[in-house]
Formats: sequence, C-alpha cells, structure tokens
Amino acid sequence: MPALPIAAALAALIAAAEPPQAPPDPRDGGPDRIDVTQYPQDQQRKYQVFSVKCAKCHPLARSVNARFSPTEWKRYMKRMLRRPNSAINEEQAQLIYDFLKFHAVQQGYGS
Ligand code: HEC
Repeated sequence: MPALPIAAALAALIAAAEPPQAPPDPRDGGPDRIDVTQYPQDQQRKYQVFSVKCAKCHPLARSVNARFSPTEWKRYMKRMLRRPNSAINEEQAQLIYDFLKFHAVQQGYGS
C-alpha cells in the first residue's frame, strides 16, 4: 500500500482542525494566551472569564499583547463594555478587570 494516501488523509485532518482565519490585524500578533499556572486559583478562574468574554470580537491576543497598566485597563474595559453586543455583565466585567489588574502588576506594567 503506498504511503501517499495516508499522508494525504493526515494533511486533510490537520487542515480540518485549523480554526477559520480571521482577517489579520497587526495588533493580534504575538501570544494568544497567558500562562496562569503560577497564579492563585481565584485569578485562574477570572482568567477563564476573560479568555471567553474578551475573545468574542477579536482574538484574545489583542488583549494579551496590549501591555496596559491597571489604570489603562479600567478605561479600556469601559470602552469594551459599551460596545453593542459585548455580552459582558457588570459582575463578569469586575472579574475580568481584577484579573487584568493582577496580571499587569505581575508584568510590571504599573500599579
Ligand atoms: C462587542 C465586541 C468586543 C468585545 C466583546 C470586546 N472587544 Fe475589545 N475591541 C473591539 C473592537 C471593535 C476593537 C477595535 C477598535 C478599538 O480599539 O476600540 C477592540 C480593541 C481592543 C483592544 C486594542 C486596544 C488598542 O488600542 O490597541 C484591546 C486591548 C481590547 N479590545 C481588549 C478587550 C477586552 C479586555 C475585552 C473583554 C473585556 C474586549 N476587548 C471585548 C471589540 C470588542
């Protein structure tokens, strides 16, 4: 049996597993996740909320690579919440902001 059909089938499987491509945005280069394994448990839970809610309209990478200080996040969160169809309520917004603030301080982006 020739090896080629197997290779072709594998290639097709891998191609099918690729997520659909969004139009590239220069701000979305870089990592699309934060390693939270060393963060406290409650921050890890907040990260889950962030990673679902803030990846609805653009890749999570946009926030991961933003390098905002907590003050800048506070302002920016309001802007994101005001967008139509953001589907983020006050409670979720507070959890997300808590996480972004914690992470910004860990990264040395201000207090
Ligand atoms: C309803 C759609 C929507 C949701 C939900 C959303 N965003 Fe956005 N976001 C946008 C759009 C549109 C832009 C580009 C225009 C802009 O910068 O305001 C953007 C841009 C950004 C930027 C780039 C800012 C810059 O100047 O480089 C960051 C950071 C960001 N969003 C973070 C978040 C975070 C954090 C959340 C979750 C709380 C979130 N977004 C949820 C629509 C959304």
